Formats: sequence, C-alpha cells, structure tokens
Amino acid sequence: MLEIAKNVSQNSYAPFSKFRVGACVMGASGNLYKGCNFENSSLGLTICAERCAIGHAVSSGEKQILAVAIYSPDSEECYPCGACRQVICEFKGDTDTEIITEKNGEPKVDKLSELLPFGFKI
Ligand code: THU
Repeated sequence: MLEIAKNVSQNSYAPFSKFRVGACVMGASGNLYKGCNFENSSLGLTICAERCAIGHAVSSGEKQILAVAIYSPDSEECYPCGACRQVICEFKGDTDTEIITEKNGEPKVDKLSELLPFGFKI
C-alpha cells in the first residue's frame, strides 16, 4: 500500500504548497483505492490525498476502511490531518483502521483510535 501511495503522490497537484501527498485505502473487500492531494486557486477547496482515495473507495461501494497508507516525498513522515482522521473515522466499521506511514524508510503502523481518540460518529 505504501508503494501505491508513493507512486500516486507523483500525480499530486500541489502548485501552491509544493507538498505532494499520495494515499492508498484498503476497503473491507480487500480492494485498494488510491488518491493524491489536489489544490485549487481558491485555497480552501484543496482536497487531501486521503479524502481523494476514500472518495474512490466509497464510490466503488466500500462502507468500511481497514487501512490507509499515506506518503509524502516532501516530508520525513506524513500523518493524516485532523479533517482526514475524522473522515476515516466515519468508515472505521467494527475494526480499528490501521494508519500506515513511513519513517526512516520503514513502514510504521498506528491505530486510528490512537490518532483520533474521540472521533465524532452519529
Ligand atoms: N495534505 C494531504 O493531502 N493530506 C493530509 O493529511 C495533510 C495535508 C495536503 C493538502 C495540501 O495540498 C498540502 O498537503 C499541504 O497542506
């Protein structure tokens, strides 16, 4: 999943921040979905890589997200922002979604519940 996140980060559209991000999501079906960040001249409209990938997953019928890998070639370690943590939380299902990052060239796995202990859910 990190390899997919790395590859798709090359498609990032980040002319304003110059910060490229790629993400890969695993749905409950086991299928993988990728996404990259894409910015906008109207800066608040920027979409993060994770939410781009989650959009692909949900529009393919996924209701639960088992894992999310995130990678930026422009950072030592790239964690999901707070907004993306909350969006991942919406689709965590019965399991605690794994958040996969890379640190010092090694994969690192955290649980969503550690990164967002009191996520909002109706
Ligand atoms: N970004 C992501 O794609 N994911 C995150 O979790 C944090 C931030 C993007 C948004 C923006 O295009 C750039 O990184 C700098 O904030």
